[in-house]
Amino acid sequence: MAPDPHSPATVPPHLVLVGMMGAGKTSIGRRVAKRLHRRHVDLDKAIERAAGTTVPEIFAAEGEAGFRAREHAVLVELLGSDVPLVISTGGGAVLRDDNRAVMRARGTVVWLRATPATLLVRVGDGSGRPLLAGDPLGNLTRLAAERADAYRDVAHEIIDVDRLSFDTVTERVTRLVTASTTSATSAQQGEP
Ligand code: S3P
Repeated sequence: MAPDPHSPATVPPHLVLVGMMGAGKTSIGRRVAKRLHRRHVDLDKAIERAAGTTVPEIFAAEGEAGFRAREHAVLVELLGSDVPLVISTGGGAVLRDDNRAVMRARGTVVWLRATPATLLVRVGDGSGRPLLAGDPLGNLTRLAAERADAYRDVAHEIIDVDRLSFDTVTERVTRLVTASTTSATSAQQGEP
């Protein structure tokens, strides 16, 4: 039987990276996965594989609501995996209450927090990201403010990445995962 994605983690939990577009979720996820010898899954790429088309095309054909429904389905499926994964989510995956609940239940959730100025450097002109079209900085600033409570609500840990190199962030995230995996294993074995 498939594991219930809403049940508390009984395996070392997945690592789930959340944060705004341009926060570095994909780059950091890839690096951390390599360090931990885990599979890395980029949620947007998994959605594209399942849909057989690109994120911008999904937005164009089905609107944001269609994209969010696909995002939810793929996220729940990934979090149901028995094999601990490193999952880099898309910036808006935290918007649904049920997404946040299943992320926390099945993963260690780390928010890579960055200011809009840092995000803008990383996303450039915003191409490939429909929600940034027209005014990348204005849209990043607005979305970051609208979503701050959702990120805070879902995150087990927060890392302010503005002044940190990718290597440093990778190191910090890796340590967090190692620590949480060790304590989960001790708890399962009844150790204090
Ligand atoms: C979105 C972020 C994107 C992608 C989609 C919507 C968002 O992912 O899921 O364009 O709502 O913030 P990245 O955060 O990986 O750019």
